[in-house]
Amino acid sequence: MNNDLNAQTRSNALLSMEGVAKQFSGRDRQVVALQNTDLEIFAGEFITVVGPSGCGKSTLLNLIAGLMAPSEGTVRFKGKPVVGVDRSIGYITQQDNLFPWLTLRDNVAFPLELVGVPEKERHDRAHSWLERVGLAGFEKAYPHELSGGMRQRGNIVRTLIYEPSIILMDEPFGPLDAQTRISLQETLLSIWESTRSTVVFITHDLTEAIALGDRVILMSARPGRIVRDDKVEISRPRDVFFIQSDPQFRRLYDEIWQDLAAQVHEHANH
Ligand SMILES: Nc1ncnc2c1ncn2[C@@H]1O[C@H](COP(=O)(O)OP(=O)(O)OP(=O)(O)O)[C@@H](O)[C@H]1O
Ligand SMILES: [Mg+2]
Repeated sequence: MNNDLNAQTRSNALLSMEGVAKQFSGRDRQVVALQNTDLEIFAGEFITVVGPSGCGKSTLLNLIAGLMAPSEGTVRFKGKPVVGVDRSIGYITQQDNLFPWLTLRDNVAFPLELVGVPEKERHDRAHSWLERVGLAGFEKAYPHELSGGMRQRGNIVRTLIYEPSIILMDEPFGPLDAQTRISLQETLLSIWESTRSTVVFITHDLTEAIALGDRVILMSARPGRIVRDDKVEISRPRDVFFIQSDPQFRRLYDEIWQDLAAQVHEHANH
């Protein structure tokens, strides 16, 4: 009965990892980046992942994206093992990858051009997305004419525009200053609240993880494994500018911080 139930839950997950490990072999050493990882992510969830530097967070995303294969275990997307890159999985990194020779509009519309969407529709969709993230009026600007925060907004929209069923974000707001960061968190949440796409979002910042996530996953110092998986019950829509004064936020922050600090400390003494 229990096994049936487990099988049932597994089949309902949009994405699952079962007994996943990843090691890298260098010339003179072997690095275990990820070990013994079981994870289920359901459609529409906003998952955030925190953990010390080098603990295997990006590796986890790369495995989900199909950019590398696990050394052990299986990663499944919609019930099927992930083999290679799938276009319905969108990937947003810390660095914006806008093409310097294209205008913002053409950068954002580029994924649509790849799949043959006609020019007029491309431009209309790019315009409406740019408007949603506060970039209306900058369609004709080139990336070097935009601020870091504006470029990252463009970068995010370039992935959202083709409506991937899961969006992987690897510290997308990492290089931005604190205020720009909060403002981007607000934009991301407002878009997510209307699309409810599935998001896996990596961050160093526990405040950001709790402010955005339905679940916060904490990874241990290397070799990385999942040590906590907390539900965030704070109601939505959330006000990211003031969430730190929410009593539920404080409680969860203090609890996870105890464990995160221990992991970071362990990492430093490794
Ligand atoms: N392609 C690779 N080849 C060899 N080793 C790798 C590769 N990718 C990652 N590693 C190693 O795996 C470990 C985990 O790296 P990963 O990039 O996943 O960490 P991270 O948690 O994302 O770190 P950070 O927070 O600093 O971004 C590191 O020791 C790293 O050196
Ligand atoms: Mg990383």
